[in-house]
Amino acid sequence: TYVIALPCVDVKDRACVDECPVDCIYEGERMLYIHPDECVDCGACEPVCPVEAIYYEDDVPEEWADYYRANVDFFEEIGSPGGAAKVGVYDFDHPLVAALAPNQN
Ligand code: F3S
Ligand code: F3S
Repeated sequence: TYVIALPCVDVKDRACVDECPVDCIYEGERMLYIHPDECVDCGACEPVCPVEAIYYEDDVPEEWADYYRANVDFFEEIGSPGGAAKVGVYDFDHPLVAALAPNQN
C-alpha cells in the first residue's frame, strides 16, 4: 500500500484524490488516509502531491514511519467502504495526527 505522511496535515491539497483510480484516499479532519486494502499500488497519487506527503510503504522516511500505522489504523472502525466519495469527510483523525499542534508539519 501507499501511505500519506505528516506533510499532508493541515494542507489537504487533495490532488491525490483526483488521480486515484479506485477512490481509496479518505479524508479525515486534518489529513487524508490511504486505505491499505483498497489501494491497488498504482502509484498515480505519489507524484501529484505538492508537499510530497505520499510514499510507497517501504519508502516512508524514517521520521514518518509511524504514519504507516496511522493510515492502516484509521480504518480500524471504518472498515472498507469501497470508495471515498460516497462517505465524505470524517470529522476525526488518527490519534497521532489529532495530537499534533497546529502547523507542526
Ligand atoms: Fe494531502 Fe498531498 Fe493528497 S497534501 S490530500 S496527500 S495531494
Ligand atoms: Fe490510489 Fe495511490 Fe493507491 S492512486 S490505488 S492510493 S497508490
